[in-house]
Amino acid sequence: MCGIVGYIGKKDAVPILLKGLQRLEYRGYDSAGISVMGTDGSQIVKQAGKVSELSKTVDDSPVSGTIGIAHTRWATHGEPNDINAHPHTDASETFSLVHNGIIENHSSLRTYLQEKGVSFKTETDTEVLVQLIGYLYQKEETSFEQAVRSALQEVVGAYGIAVTCKNEPDTIIVARLGSPLVLGVGDEEYFIASDASPIVEYTRKVVYLDEGEMVCIHPNGYKVKNIKKDLILSKEIKEIDLSVEQIEKGNFPHFMLKEIHEQAQTIPDTLRGRLLVDKGTAHLGGIEDWIPRFEQAHRIYITACGTSWHAGLIGKYLIEEYAGIPVHVEYASEFRYRRNIVDKDTLVLAISQSGETADTLAAIKKAKEKGALTVGICNVVGSSIARETECGIYTHAGPEIGVASTKAFTAQVTVLYMLALRLGKSAGMSAIEGRTLAKALSEIGVDAARVLDQSEAIEKVAWEYKDVENFLYLGRGLNFPVALEGALKLKEISYIHAEGYPAAEMKHGPIALIDEKMPVVFLAPHDLTFEKVLSNIHEVKARKGKIITLTDKKTKDLTDLSDHLIVVPSSHPRVFPILATIPLQLLAYHLAVIRGCNVDQPRNLAKSVTVE
Ligand code: G6P
Repeated sequence: MCGIVGYIGKKDAVPILLKGLQRLEYRGYDSAGISVMGTDGSQIVKQAGKVSELSKTVDDSPVSGTIGIAHTRWATHGEPNDINAHPHTDASETFSLVHNGIIENHSSLRTYLQEKGVSFKTETDTEVLVQLIGYLYQKEETSFEQAVRSALQEVVGAYGIAVTCKNEPDTIIVARLGSPLVLGVGDEEYFIASDASPIVEYTRKVVYLDEGEMVCIHPNGYKVKNIKKDLILSKEIKEIDLSVEQIEKGNFPHFMLKEIHEQAQTIPDTLRGRLLVDKGTAHLGGIEDWIPRFEQAHRIYITACGTSWHAGLIGKYLIEEYAGIPVHVEYASEFRYRRNIVDKDTLVLAISQSGETADTLAAIKKAKEKGALTVGICNVVGSSIARETECGIYTHAGPEIGVASTKAFTAQVTVLYMLALRLGKSAGMSAIEGRTLAKALSEIGVDAARVLDQSEAIEKVAWEYKDVENFLYLGRGLNFPVALEGALKLKEISYIHAEGYPAAEMKHGPIALIDEKMPVVFLAPHDLTFEKVLSNIHEVKARKGKIITLTDKKTKDLTDLSDHLIVVPSSHPRVFPILATIPLQLLAYHLAVIRGCNVDQPRNLAKSVTVE
């Protein structure tokens, strides 16, 4: 949700800023801009559209300088046009500012400033903040740092900001409250970014800013301070564990396809060193000290958004089945504003790829206030949710850049299987049951590779449905959340309307939609519910719907009924949901490519939603 980059050092900032923006474009891509300090103040280039278009404009009318800030936007206040693009300036054009987040009291601050004679150029909440800094700077005849500090005291909302001032041209000030910022520490050069991906090719040394911190950066050093008090804080420099290859597409046409294919490796990576096949359980280092609290929990809430919420639903089925603890799965945006039964006997499990989703973070804060034990399942190491929770389990899927989540989802689900095994052990799950499931999980990487080999066959299926307007996805039990995720993937990137339902629910509504044009994707492994799903397939067939079936075994009944049969090799029906997710990702991917959609940057979406 908006990406920020900054550079201060001896090199030309412009190529560093533009490349950094490209790395952060997954966070938002409706407009972009840079501000580079020149001899007469900031040189700003900004416009609607993608970073590649901004780069062309900069090529045509070059700007240069060794200090600069930049932004790629996902619009919240004000449409994504040239004027509303960041950086924004104050009336005197002394300050230049980029912002990620929302200034919630922008309207009252705007009125206040207008009454003082300040006139505004844009519809954005961000301009209010930079105008306030400019106003306080003049009124209080104060320093750049103090003006930023004073303005931030007046602000309600969330922000990650980077600001420059033409009267102190060798300084960048950044501050964080609710939106992530990382400082990269180089050799007489410093980098600022919303995450480490724009920094990794220059330095591995970083400082993660915590809530309520600001940093004043000069070419020869930096000081981290508290926003409220003028106190210098000592912050640990950390090493980032990220390589440039991990954040590049390699030979794949899209990040999404690369990330789908990585799953044959990322799922085993998630399991590595944790799954204990012989013992039929898992050792999860990040939560082992807290296991007594897990065992005593009266209830578990799983809270998350989007795809991570779907992973949570699978977690509910698994934990209730194997550990016998009641689990409620709730959207974080609902959890945070509702009176729910959360107390010291409650465990709140927050699932988030980015570890930065605003609603999920707020849900954790609420759970902590009520005395619950909070547990994070995050992909991004050192992210806000990972740090805010008392304990947690990293998914270790590596950086996910495609906006539609793929490998992060299967990694989250894999973690939840291990958690269910671990809690199942405490709850008396039989050793044989544990070993059988653990063995199936240990083989999943090989099975995933065999599923990926079917990509071309799935592309052929996709060609047959390129012009449809609707899709239905149906599954039962553990495969119901997979149906939801399949439908979400399709609508996110191909813009085909799609719905996921528990298969039995079809007859309570969606069946009305079925005609000869309607494709229905069935998840039909040979488990306890197989016969029931088969009946649902018959019901669709009777109404001339098109049937795409995913199963674990090719059988005559399925071959006869299905227009397309995709066999997912799965050594245990319980792990079928992880493997069956992959063909659904591929189906969505191929349909989106065939329809000419931008799969890595679908319209209106952003990967990391750091606003409510
Ligand atoms: C956005 C993304 C989704 C993601 C959701 C939750 O909506 O587009 O792909 O599932 O946020 O993100 P998180 O990082 O918390 O898993």
